[in-house]
Amino acid sequence: MKILIATEKPFAPVAVEGIKNEIEKAGFQLALLEKYTEKKQLIEAVADANAVIIRSDKIDAEVLDAAKELKIVVRAGAGYDNVDLEAATKHGVVVMNTPGQNSNAVAELVFGLLVFAVRNFYNGKAGTELMGKKLGILAFGNVGRNVARVAKGFGMEVAAYDAFCPAEVIEAAEVHAAKNQEELFETCDIVSLHIPATPETKQSINKALVGKMKKGGIVVNTARKEVINEPELIELMNERQDIKYVTDIKPDADAEFAQFEGRYFSTPKKMGAQTAEANINAGIAAAKQIVAFFKEGCTKFQVNK
Ligand code: 3PG
Repeated sequence: MKILIATEKPFAPVAVEGIKNEIEKAGFQLALLEKYTEKKQLIEAVADANAVIIRSDKIDAEVLDAAKELKIVVRAGAGYDNVDLEAATKHGVVVMNTPGQNSNAVAELVFGLLVFAVRNFYNGKAGTELMGKKLGILAFGNVGRNVARVAKGFGMEVAAYDAFCPAEVIEAAEVHAAKNQEELFETCDIVSLHIPATPETKQSINKALVGKMKKGGIVVNTARKEVINEPELIELMNERQDIKYVTDIKPDADAEFAQFEGRYFSTPKKMGAQTAEANINAGIAAAKQIVAFFKEGCTKFQVNK
């Protein structure tokens, strides 16, 4: 049984070692494709793989066509918008994610970005503090819940809205449940995005919504670039010199956002989940899920049912 790790953005070596142990303990063989630069390399590598562990790597119909022996793809992480689920189902391939395994890392980076933003990107001028500010969390999944936990440590007031999570669940975490996303943008000093990229959410963070923010509003995006309506956000930031946008997902319009010096920052690569701990947690969970799938037929965490 050949298990391939295909990661354009590699796991920490210690995580690869952990994955290898799990795979070899089960009597399977591990293959590694890291830092590949062309799709062709991925297509070649999947040819004889029975399982693939990926991160934000794109698995589409062309890759699936080439993967004749493939039975399962595990996205070591949360978002699986990089996998063509319909094509995977057609090819008889099970797709899973590893929910929650990298969420603390993403939540910590939210605050790394926020402290950087409120301290004027460390330019030496007096900034502001997070304590006492109101943070709005858009989507209360694993990352959103961790963000709420850390925000309380900073002494922030916390509100959240999630179209799929009942208000009682949010209130049980001692977080104010906003009645809709408009309320979050209207009432919070900072809004942190944790929605997945779906047909409903793509382009949903637009001028009308962000334009509701109070003076000095900050949007922090560690979700997906696709959820932002980039032309509209640029238009708004041109009209409102007080709005800041910080993200770990380089926008398509990065060059245009760059004009907003002191109000815009993006990490060069998606960095939220890029810690040794998150790599170990998500990578080993992926390996264990693959072993359980082949040995016990376990399909827990399957997302293409
Ligand atoms: C996720 O969906 O798990 C995060 O966005 C992390 O993505 P990455 O594994 O590509 O860093």
